[in-house]
Amino acid sequence: MKIRTYEREVPKIILGCMRIASKEDKEVDQLITTAIDNGVNFFDHADIYGRGESETKFAKSVKALNLDRDKLIIQSKASIRPGICYDFSKDHILKAIDGSLKRLNTDYLDFFLFHRPDPLMDVNEVSDIINSLIETKKVKSFGVSNQNTHQMNLLNKYCDNKLAVNQLQMSITNCPMIDSSINVNMDNSYSIDRDAGMLEYSILNDITIQAWSPFQYGFFEGVFINNAKFKELNIVLDKLSQKYNVEKEAVVAAWLLRIPNKIQVIAGTTNYKRLNSIIKAKDILLTREEWYELYISAGKKLP
Ligand SMILES: NC(=O)c1ccc[n+]([C@@H]2O[C@H](COP(=O)([O-])OP(=O)(O)OC[C@H]3O[C@@H](n4cnc5c(N)ncnc54)[C@H](OP(=O)(O)O)[C@@H]3O)[C@@H](O)[C@H]2O)c1
Repeated sequence: MKIRTYEREVPKIILGCMRIASKEDKEVDQLITTAIDNGVNFFDHADIYGRGESETKFAKSVKALNLDRDKLIIQSKASIRPGICYDFSKDHILKAIDGSLKRLNTDYLDFFLFHRPDPLMDVNEVSDIINSLIETKKVKSFGVSNQNTHQMNLLNKYCDNKLAVNQLQMSITNCPMIDSSINVNMDNSYSIDRDAGMLEYSILNDITIQAWSPFQYGFFEGVFINNAKFKELNIVLDKLSQKYNVEKEAVVAAWLLRIPNKIQVIAGTTNYKRLNSIIKAKDILLTREEWYELYISAGKKLP
């Protein structure tokens, strides 16, 4: 069996739309134009982003820019009822998707992801949800977010339509998938396998990993680029950005793209100039030594 290395069938960069709700229409137009002009036509949403306002703003821009829906890849997520629960019930998910379709002004989603796992889910009900969405042509492909391999296996066992995506937090500073893969069998906290072998599972099962918050450390604690807390990392980023003649953002995204999985970077910037810099990662292939140097400079150790 051929294991995929750097040939990918998936777009490398996704524009994450979580933060666009508070932006002016012209800023959103400029952001989307920059994405499209640079070959980025994949957009990530969720029903909760800006309480629906992100999806509405996005659709307004698509209309204003006269973009062809069929040339866009639109993804949304649901299951989070903020402050209440995670909800995989048929009633909640179908209503949530109808809401997203309306706000996005489209008849279908290219991808729908179950946003956060719900331990109270009924797998047969989830199978029904998926079948109904296929039948009504409201969703083309399905995936999950923030799930481990056991949870994905469970859903795959009961659903005819196999999951194509798992969206997980991942950056140079936040990469337990990589840490546990390197530290197998070691008596240290990096050996803790927090996602049950997702790195290898996703290759074996042809799952695309979508990396969210690729520039953040902690849980939305801030950006590590040009941050004094990450001095060593920034020295190496600086060196490599000079070598590849790009901004540091591109090197950060290239670090994720170097991982030999089907991997996608979800850039959450609302700044079109920054997006332009990030997109340059598509053309960079870091050497093995550079990839490890970045990992170690982020404070990680090789055992
Ligand atoms: N599945 C999930 O549970 C989940 C959770 C969170 C997010 N997501 C998805 O992932 C996407 C990305 O998440 P994120 O927005 O947290 O990720 P991010 O791309 O790591 O962070 C973007 C934020 O960092 C700011 N920033 C400041 N300096 C930056 C720099 N040098 N480079 C890049 N960004 C810089 C950006 O500000 P400017 O706008 O001014 O550039 C923006 O506010 C979201 O849009 C959403 O689609 C999914």
